[in-house]
Amino acid sequence: MIIVLLGYMGSGKSSVGRILAEKLNYNLIDLDDFIEEKEGISVSEIFKTKGEVYFRKKETEYLKDLLKLEENTILSLGGGTPCYANNMDAILNAENATSIYLKGSLPFLSQKLFKKKAKRPLIAHVESEELMTEFIGKHLFERSQFYSKAEIHIVTDYKEKIEIVEDIILALF
Ligand code: S3P
Repeated sequence: MIIVLLGYMGSGKSSVGRILAEKLNYNLIDLDDFIEEKEGISVSEIFKTKGEVYFRKKETEYLKDLLKLEENTILSLGGGTPCYANNMDAILNAENATSIYLKGSLPFLSQKLFKKKAKRPLIAHVESEELMTEFIGKHLFERSQFYSKAEIHIVTDYKEKIEIVEDIILALF
């Protein structure tokens, strides 16, 4: 089985993925890390030197390859992955994949992301917490239609990572 973790930036996909993989004894693949490894440069550098369109093209290609994996795998996506090309349908149609939306609220995400924006090219330019809330509010509104197609939804606000992992395991098995 492939357990696909998706949700907005800052929703905990990578850190929850690490703990979940350890608990279930599954392989762990973080799509952003995978892209960085394959392309030999960081996601921020890809955005800067090759542009977002190139990034999205590679993201879709690698996602589709990874959805063919047969080993038990936790696959943590980037925040935008489900929202481009036909990626969300590819996830839903992949035979042995189960999709999980890690759902953070607007206040939680903006507070967290304002402190951790530097490595994220789409929000690095946002200058105040108020503007961050405005930006993420619009962005989440556009993206929620894709995220909400996931088979399982888990609320993540102010929960310990281990609690989120336990909620996922309860929902899955
Ligand atoms: C993006 C989220 C990032 C990364 C890229 C684009 C997005 O991943 O894929 O910067 O469009 O939301 P995280 O969600 O892991 O920050």
